[in-house]
Amino acid sequence: MSYTIYENDSHLRLAWSIQILYQICTQLYDLFCMWYKELALLRKIVVTGGAGFIGCHLCRSLARSGLSDEVIIVDSLHPYYDPALKRKRLDELTKLPGISYYPGDILDAEQMDKLFQTERPEAVIHLAAIPGVRRSLAEPLLYIDADVKGTVQLLELCRRYSVPRFLFASSSSVYGEKKADRPFREEEAGLAVVSPYAASKLAAEVFLRTYADLYGLNVTVLRFFTVYGPEQRPDMAISRFVSQLTKGEPLTLYDPGSLRDYTYVEDIVRGIEAALIHSAGWQVYNLGSGRPTSLVELVRLLEQVSGQKTSTVVLGKQPGDVSGTWADISAARHRLNWAPVVSLEEGLARFWKWWQTK
Ligand SMILES: NC(=O)c1ccc[n+]([C@@H]2O[C@H](COP(=O)([O-])OP(=O)(O)OC[C@H]3O[C@@H](n4cnc5c(N)ncnc54)[C@H](O)[C@@H]3O)[C@@H](O)[C@H]2O)c1
Repeated sequence: MSYTIYENDSHLRLAWSIQILYQICTQLYDLFCMWYKELALLRKIVVTGGAGFIGCHLCRSLARSGLSDEVIIVDSLHPYYDPALKRKRLDELTKLPGISYYPGDILDAEQMDKLFQTERPEAVIHLAAIPGVRRSLAEPLLYIDADVKGTVQLLELCRRYSVPRFLFASSSSVYGEKKADRPFREEEAGLAVVSPYAASKLAAEVFLRTYADLYGLNVTVLRFFTVYGPEQRPDMAISRFVSQLTKGEPLTLYDPGSLRDYTYVEDIVRGIEAALIHSAGWQVYNLGSGRPTSLVELVRLLEQVSGQKTSTVVLGKQPGDVSGTWADISAARHRLNWAPVVSLEEGLARFWKWWQTK
């Protein structure tokens, strides 16, 4: 009997201790949330290239997530592809509360200075660039302007106006022609890249590192791996294939054996937001699916989601293209607590559905 009393006592004490521990934990959790929200809630964010494919998804999400009170899109509506598409995105985005559009070119020093001086942003997410590897072979100077000069121009403004966070959209192309028999880790990017596009991204990364070290800016480099999803740029493979498929044309493949780490745009957006919250010092992250897929397999999946059979024409590997990409995403997993959640099958099905309604 005395044993039973002792046992009940000890159970009671254990229950009290657990309750007290629970209360302490919930209070600590509440405090943490308040601190975290304080940290994460930015007054104003400048998103360069916000009218672009990735930019429009990001701005939409920033407006909804409450991470920022105000998002200012800076975009020159570059005619790399139809500016009407960008205008259409802006029409929709600027209807959302907290999003405004500043028509401007990041290369226009006076205009950008005026913007930073009046708006005093707390973060810059720099997506503006001329995309596309192939065009960079024909017009390399265009890429140096947008990616290198444009980036340094923004870094100078961040230094001058003490902007605490700077995020840069880099690319898997900085890994150059590497055998994709294992995932690429962040520290493996070397100098041997195969296109002026990749060289410009790499050069921009060097300037970013220099500014982070020289002036103590918080700079995060995000290397995106082949991003796809609704609103994808019309020049990219999945958009081109779906366009050809719906017109009943054969799909034009460059290198059928090439591998790409296709990443759904919403996963990329969550990665950018996680990096924004965790911005501190110098950081570099791969944002990819971590699952390489061959072009042949991609075509098979497109046939599956569309329910249509296709024919293909092989054009051969193009100069500037790499044969494979594969992201090691463990750094982003561990430090940003980020992981991609949309499988290629699911992402392609969503893309297909969007295409039917556009
Ligand atoms: N889409 C991908 O798969 C992918 C992969 C790796 C890296 N990236 C990088 O991500 C970023 C966004 O890519 P995207 O696919 O959304 O391209 P996008 O062309 O749709 O968006 C880029 C935007 O930048 C704007 N812009 C270009 N030059 C400008 C300038 N001088 N001033 C102001 N705005 C300017 C364009 O008008 C465009 O709206 C780019 O930096 C790109 O290099 C994209």
